[in-house]
Amino acid sequence: MPQLIAGNWKMHCLAAEAIALAKGVAAGAQGITADLVVCPTALHIAAVAQALQGSPVAVGGQDCHQSKQGAHTGDIAAPMLRDAGAAWVILGHSERRHNHGETDELVREKTLAAVAAGLTPIVCVGETADQRAGGQETDIVGWQLAGSLPKPFSGVVAYEPVWAIGTGKTATDEDVATMHAFIREELVRQFGDAGAIIRILYGGSVKAANAASLLAVPHVGGALVGGASLNAQEFLAIARAAQAG
Ligand code: PGA
Repeated sequence: MPQLIAGNWKMHCLAAEAIALAKGVAAGAQGITADLVVCPTALHIAAVAQALQGSPVAVGGQDCHQSKQGAHTGDIAAPMLRDAGAAWVILGHSERRHNHGETDELVREKTLAAVAAGLTPIVCVGETADQRAGGQETDIVGWQLAGSLPKPFSGVVAYEPVWAIGTGKTATDEDVATMHAFIREELVRQFGDAGAIIRILYGGSVKAANAASLLAVPHVGGALVGGASLNAQEFLAIARAAQAG
């Protein structure tokens, strides 16, 4: 399966900037064999999807509600993301878990809602700096996987150590190798043969300069890219490293 390179644009870009960024990615996407997804704010999904029409770059959301509709002021349902042109959705990002109190149980419900709407979920897990300092990183990630993924699970997992997100501190290739091997084991334990082929992304300060070595680590099935995805050339350079990896 090709590696997946997903850009998480977070709360960045006004509409014109998002469209320009999307067009920049599309313009350089020919010949890249990795699967490419960009995840703008929900407000810009329709415009970005339109800008990407005819290109191999797909669009994703950054969150969805667990219900398919209802009295939930300010929330966005998975079928709405799909309707706007999204094919993917990031769920359980640490910024959602920490800023919005999202629990594993809620992430699991959102994942079910996403799949029911025809979206492919990218479910994020990862430990904090304190948890790693306490030697708890695999326990934490194991619990998050057990609690956040519905059975059966058709989607992608992203390992994003919280201390590496937006900090410029990337996990070492050895840390990533250890954690991705652990996650693979857990997925096989939970899902049997199906767990052997679930793509496991790495996320946390991925950039062109470190992408090739991270993407070559066993069981790394791609990258979830924040800051570096806001520059089309940098994002494309990461995607080209995926092929070489
Ligand atoms: P970063 O963000 O690449 O800016 O560290 C990654 C993420 O939050 O998905």
